[in-house]
Amino acid sequence: MKTWFITGSSSGFGKQLATQLAQLEEVKLIATARKLSDLAYLDRYDHGQIKKLALDVTEPEQIAAAVAASLAFSDQIDVLVNNAGLGYFATIEESDPARVRQMFEVNFFGLAAVTTAFLPQLRKQGQGVIVNLSSALALTTLPTMGFYSASKYAVEGYSAALRQEVGPLGIRVLTVEPSGARTQWAGSAAGKVVPQIADYAAFKETVATAGNFVTQSPGNPAKIARAIIEVVTSGDFPDHLPLGQFAYEGGLANLTTLVGEIKGQRERALAVDD
Ligand SMILES: NC(=O)c1ccc[n+]([C@@H]2O[C@H](COP(=O)([O-])OP(=O)(O)OC[C@H]3O[C@@H](n4cnc5c(N)ncnc54)[C@H](OP(=O)(O)O)[C@@H]3O)[C@@H](O)[C@H]2O)c1
Repeated sequence: MKTWFITGSSSGFGKQLATQLAQLEEVKLIATARKLSDLAYLDRYDHGQIKKLALDVTEPEQIAAAVAASLAFSDQIDVLVNNAGLGYFATIEESDPARVRQMFEVNFFGLAAVTTAFLPQLRKQGQGVIVNLSSALALTTLPTMGFYSASKYAVEGYSAALRQEVGPLGIRVLTVEPSGARTQWAGSAAGKVVPQIADYAAFKETVATAGNFVTQSPGNPAKIARAIIEVVTSGDFPDHLPLGQFAYEGGLANLTTLVGEIKGQRERALAVDD
């Protein structure tokens, strides 16, 4: 029996993950959402192996309470999925600092706070998997997605260091980099600032139509959730899981360019050390 804990299970990937995990006999599920009523869809699967908890990842008391309730429900937390997150569409110059900070509170600081709260238990167990929802936009970037990308690059840098710290203790850290998928991440909760500065007119359409991602992205949330479950359950996985064509091809192209640039600077790079 493996116990999964998921943040942001009210919609999108989190809801798909919870729905699919709820149907697996060998899984104990702890699904969390800001509003407990948003988890009512799980009631049809209730077979004693599902715990629903209220959790806003920006609220430290709620995190502590969720960890305590989880450990009362299950001796062991095998998989922590840091899924909660939201989008923000604006040029860098026209971004609203308060909205950007709020996005970072969820996408990065919330993820980090939930992880820190579970680490003592994971260390005690000497095993576990932390799945951090990053983004294809942490493998490459697009205009008007700068601060969103930054929040996901933060997740990547954080995860890479965490991996080095807890890997020797038996804890794996998987970052998932999905391409655009048909969830609510670009919907009403996402901030959007249509460029007003004439120099950024080329990006007006991108922001104005950002909500179209919700219905028109190629990524299928059910398939993405299935891929995550399959990969984690297999126990044999890399550190990164790019999903979708954009993540694969866009990420590969960007990182290949980066490798080329670093190699091209070999002499200058090595010349500054004594
Ligand atoms: N869909 C994509 O194209 C895509 C691509 C790459 C990465 N991602 C990432 O995938 C993750 C899941 O997003 P999604 O695409 O499934 O979007 P979604 O349908 O909007 O789901 C996001 C979830 O996060 C929750 N959430 C927001 N703020 C929260 C907070 N303060 N505390 C707890 N939960 C909170 C939402 O809950 P409420 O319903 O209460 O707001 C919702 O359950 C996010 O980290 C997102 O950045 C998405």
